[in-house]
Amino acid sequence: MSDQPVRITIKPSGSILIESPAVILDADGNEIPQPTQKRPGTVKLCGCGNSKTKPFCDGSHNEGR
Ligand code: FES
Repeated sequence: MSDQPVRITIKPSGSILIESPAVILDADGNEIPQPTQKRPGTVKLCGCGNSKTKPFCDGSHNEGR
């Protein structure tokens, strides 16, 4: 395991990019299945609130642009 901290970037679109594989859990501790990511080994979460696949970003932040 790397000693480097995981990079998490808040994008201008509102998405939150985790530059590492990650397991995302719900409030009960159950793993939430992840959609296929454009960049394997990363996870992109929705921060804009418009995603239809919350908590993951599905690109809906681009709607209306
Ligand atoms: S940040 Fe992409 S759909 Fe919300």
